[in-house]
Amino acid sequence: MSRKDSAGRPPLRVAVLGSGKGSNCQSIIEAIEAGRLNVRIVCVISDVENAFILERARRRGIPAFYLSAAPFKTKLDGAAELRYVETLREHGAEVIALAGFMRMIKQGLLAAFPNRILNIHPALLPAFPGMESWRQALDYGAKVAGCTVHFVDAGMDTGPIIVQRAVPVLDGDTAETLHARIQTEERIAYPEALRLLSEGSLAIEGRRVRLGNSPYSFPCCFQSVAISIL
Ligand code: GRF
Repeated sequence: MSRKDSAGRPPLRVAVLGSGKGSNCQSIIEAIEAGRLNVRIVCVISDVENAFILERARRRGIPAFYLSAAPFKTKLDGAAELRYVETLREHGAEVIALAGFMRMIKQGLLAAFPNRILNIHPALLPAFPGMESWRQALDYGAKVAGCTVHFVDAGMDTGPIIVQRAVPVLDGDTAETLHARIQTEERIAYPEALRLLSEGSLAIEGRRVRLGNSPYSFPCCFQSVAISIL
């Protein structure tokens, strides 16, 4: 499919990498199908052979591959990294969307796709990087939690921030209820960030990502907090 948007741009060619159930990948697919996102998912790759994200992609006819990242457990490096770069290039990926890909991205992939790798993290970065950040937020006693879509750099959850969406932490929350509330926002945040990127609206200036003339991004980012304050 080579549909163009109203400005005549062809779809942005995005590869999605994930290790798990793929709900973020699903939200991207749905935004594309609804005509809200000028993106084509050129392939989905997982480092977990039976990850449901692969099944979701195959159901939609999207090329989906299991690519082992052995022998490493927590990073994508060495020969495995080369295999990933090769497959991404073969499919003509312009941008990589990490969606629950449970490995650190190293220099080879970063250099192959400079400022073209995005990640979603279930916290309002820079607070609570790393694992189970919703639980970290709850245990810390934070009153506001949320999610962040950011560019990927060599650090863990440290790259320039594109979109954040906030949710309140409620008195009765458990790790599970808070995580579910955050995930609802993730499904809005990732398509939104990709939309901005596909429209050429993003400019990275140091740590700051300018969103250009995006009429929706600012209110969207703060919607949930605004609702909880009212
Ligand atoms: C998401 O919560 C995301 O924030 C984190 O990993 C999870 C992936 O979930 N990085 P899914 O595979 O997209 O359902």
